[in-house]
Amino acid sequence: MESCSRNEFEQLVKNASVLSNSPDGPRVYLTPDQTIVKVFWPKKLFSSDRIVPYGLRFARCARRLSQLGFDSVVVEKIMRCRDPGMHLVIYALVPGPSIRELGEHEPSTDKILGRLAVYLAKLHQNGVYFKALHLGNIIVQRDGSFALIDFHSTKFYKMPVSVNRRLKNLKNMLHYAQDYALLERYGLDPFIREYLQGSGMTSAQKKAFLKAFEATFPDQP
Ligand SMILES: Nc1ncnc2c1ncn2[C@@H]1O[C@H](COP(=O)(O)OP(=O)(O)O)[C@@H](O)[C@H]1O
Ligand SMILES: [Mg+2]
Repeated sequence: MESCSRNEFEQLVKNASVLSNSPDGPRVYLTPDQTIVKVFWPKKLFSSDRIVPYGLRFARCARRLSQLGFDSVVVEKIMRCRDPGMHLVIYALVPGPSIRELGEHEPSTDKILGRLAVYLAKLHQNGVYFKALHLGNIIVQRDGSFALIDFHSTKFYKMPVSVNRRLKNLKNMLHYAQDYALLERYGLDPFIREYLQGSGMTSAQKKAFLKAFEATFPDQP
């Protein structure tokens, strides 16, 4: 990991636009040469960030995702700044809109959402629990394939993700009003059925999943 002085940091983000903020300050910068600089501010005492800094975790998760065949970002550099105290991860912008952005402009995202159901099933089947799952964190690349961003909190299991975690993951996504509206327009019923078809779950697991899902979204499957 390289170290970075205040002056170097200022040079790095010179003329950059801020894409996202956190209570501690800007979180994501886009530089004029289309590079992303993501800032991880240190967490308070007792955070797991003290053991493995989030910046390092980000790079590890990118590597794991790539090993499993899921696109994310190509990390160029991780840096540690002492003043102000923070970690930086530097990576190229993934060209393309997020699914959420596409949904705002395109009247029909049906094909993409159909593919999304299968994609999420595949993530879960491969033991990937993408905790930050929402449609703003999935980029649709030029060739139509998906790439994940914002994945430093992702958990990797040796086994497929459990039924309870799968449910939690999908429910969390549906708690975002924009994402719920988009998926409701597509139809939660077909979306969940397509997800289950690709999920590799046993029929007993599928039954349990549907029962729990219905309890949260009563009008659905
Ligand atoms: N590699 C990337 N390619 C394209 N856009 C990105 C990339 N990284 C970040 N962004 C843009 O910046 C926004 C914020 O980045 P993200 O990593 O999701 O941070 P946050 O933790 O603030 O949600 C994203 O919603 C997306 O619009
Ligand atoms: Mg995000």
